[in-house]
Amino acid sequence: MELGLENKLIVVTGAASGIGKAIFMSLLKEGAHPIGLDIKHYKGSYLSEVWSGDGGEYHQIDITDNLALEKLFSDVSHLNGLVNNAELMGGDSRYGGRTPEAWDKVIGNNAKAAYNLIELLAPKMNKGSSIVNIGSTALDVGEKGTVLYTVAKGALKAMTLVYAIQLAPNTRVNMVSPGNVSSEQNIKFYEENPKMAEKIHSKELIGRSATPEEVANIVAFLLSPVTGAVTGENYVMSSGLGKSLFETVETE
Ligand SMILES: NC(=O)c1ccc[n+]([C@@H]2O[C@H](COP(=O)([O-])OP(=O)(O)OC[C@H]3O[C@@H](n4cnc5c(N)ncnc54)[C@H](O)[C@@H]3O)[C@@H](O)[C@H]2O)c1
Repeated sequence: MELGLENKLIVVTGAASGIGKAIFMSLLKEGAHPIGLDIKHYKGSYLSEVWSGDGGEYHQIDITDNLALEKLFSDVSHLNGLVNNAELMGGDSRYGGRTPEAWDKVIGNNAKAAYNLIELLAPKMNKGSSIVNIGSTALDVGEKGTVLYTVAKGALKAMTLVYAIQLAPNTRVNMVSPGNVSSEQNIKFYEENPKMAEKIHSKELIGRSATPEEVANIVAFLLSPVTGAVTGENYVMSSGLGKSLFETVETE
């Protein structure tokens, strides 16, 4: 199927690694012009291992810095898409517990930055453009100690619906919510904690986590005009996590 993304200008946040890197690379493959943003330096990033520097662009920028974003996009008059993917990952304890400061940091980074980017870039979006927010199955199958992360995803889900209404019919807005993904970080975690990895995979109906490329496939699909009638939706790709009452290993 032709996705019709040739020469489309699409902003991807968190492009240095994991899912963002895979989205960036899949857009390049489709002939689009991805504009990757990440707080990490390109040199030494996972993206630098697979991208030569041709066909797209990469900017080292903190997406919570609105002034820097305004400056970066001041000369850009049209865009075709935006993927809000960047995120501070991890549970509440990583940010010092559920303090007011931790709320500001995690919600600011994971939800407010996406809101600011949509407000800044939506007026530059061409007719037929598409925004994809990266959510999580954490909204459906919760986990202790992840209040801040999950609240931020809830805000993104709410934004998906309301911006789909606000920006229609010019721009579609959808969400892709993965379960566990074998990003570089998770591969390392699985290797260091094989018993835990086995337990996690036993709860995934397909017996493994999704790859970043599988998430990127769905994102590219939703960015494409072939899904022109889809807006305001949340596409869950959980690897079947939590769908079975019992573990998927044979019990007999
Ligand atoms: N990996 C998983 O298992 C999983 C599961 C469900 C959802 N997700 C979601 O997928 C998305 C990507 O996750 P990932 O696993 O690829 O994570 P990752 O940590 O590999 O990538 C996130 C990227 O965001 C960047 N980033 C964070 N804050 C930033 C900021 N202020 N400015 C610019 N860049 C910033 C980081 O530098 C990093 O490169 C996240 O939204 C995450 O919640 C991941």
